[in-house]
Amino acid sequence: MEADMFQEKLIAWYRENKRDLPWRKQNDPYSIWVSEIMLQQTKVDTVIPYYQRFMERFPTMEDLAQATEEEVLKMWEGLGYYSRAKNLWLGVKEVKEKYGGIVPDSKEEIINLPGIGSYTAGAILSIAYGKKTAAVDGNVMRVISRVFNQFEDITKAKTKGLMERMVEDLMPDQETNLFTQALMELGALICTPKNPQCLLCP
Ligand code: ADE
Repeated sequence: MEADMFQEKLIAWYRENKRDLPWRKQNDPYSIWVSEIMLQQTKVDTVIPYYQRFMERFPTMEDLAQATEEEVLKMWEGLGYYSRAKNLWLGVKEVKEKYGGIVPDSKEEIINLPGIGSYTAGAILSIAYGKKTAAVDGNVMRVISRVFNQFEDITKAKTKGLMERMVEDLMPDQETNLFTQALMELGALICTPKNPQCLLCP
């Protein structure tokens, strides 16, 4: 399939079918960072109220950087995987000290922040900064494997690298934010692990 056909169909489908999620109301790097960290090991429905409370308590990176570790963990209570909260807090403090409070916009820099791996780096760069940087997780690998008849073992690091290059080749120059979120949304709503809705797939 041609890249521009793939982009067009995927993004058009997303515009029509996307869920109204609280982190889709802002595209600033901090909001995207918080949401992607919460979504790493936790389902969307569980994350929503936590995300809303967290952003009310810590609306800016400055608010989070000034909080104590105890306060941050308190806001995370019940979500689990608490190292995520600690790393997010440490990361925000590092952005304040090292980058003057601006989340860096290069993968080399952003990936060195605590708790940020290739996936989260790609999500922040493509959603908040309009960069053509892939955000590939298990869901995106499933979508790409099926659409392009890839039979590579997705548990291998090499496959992830391969998929990142494929997604970057497919990504449009504009609307990288829509493209990244559309791939995630297709994996969540249509291209599900079991009983995918292939007849409804764009
Ligand atoms: N899973 C990971 N990131 C997500 C996002 N931004 N929206 C919905 N589900 C996700």
